[in-house]
Amino acid sequence: MAIERTLSIIKPDGVEKGVIGRVISRFETAGLKPVAIRLERLSQAQAEGFYAVHRARPFFGDLVKFMTGGPVVLMVLEGENAIARNREVMGATDPKKAAEGTIRKDFATDIEKNTVHGSDSPENARTEIAYFFPEVQVHAYEWKAKR
Ligand code: RTP
Ligand code: MG
Repeated sequence: MAIERTLSIIKPDGVEKGVIGRVISRFETAGLKPVAIRLERLSQAQAEGFYAVHRARPFFGDLVKFMTGGPVVLMVLEGENAIARNREVMGATDPKKAAEGTIRKDFATDIEKNTVHGSDSPENARTEIAYFFPEVQVHAYEWKAKR
């Protein structure tokens, strides 16, 4: 299996609920290590750009308002199959449909205030990591393999 990197966001509802530590603990337990972390309040332009693929969706305006309503934690997670594994640990978009033991099942409020974001494909992981962490290499560090 490949070592991958993926972009994770703890959304404003997760920060507000005070579960940053517990969410990161879930990732670490699943073998996903943060290699970059930053807490920040997104601007309107940053949120609109990040969710540009959803621009035509009816929930776009609400989504941008929600994502700019409080600080978020931006992270790059690294591990084996990190993109798919992160999505598993997160659970389904709608917490009512999320599996037991997932972050969204345990912490999310509803389909919008669903606590975490995760890249959904290698291509989007690359784009999203570059969007928030242009200084971070998209691939795992070579020195890890040499230790
Ligand atoms: P994300 O991109 O945040 O990781 O979530 P996702 O892949 O599971 O879901 P996606 O379809 O990409 O939707 C992005 C985010 O938009 C909000 N949403 N609201 N009101 C609604 O029907 C609705 N649908 C989606 C959620 O915050 C969702 O995570
Ligand atoms: Mg998505």
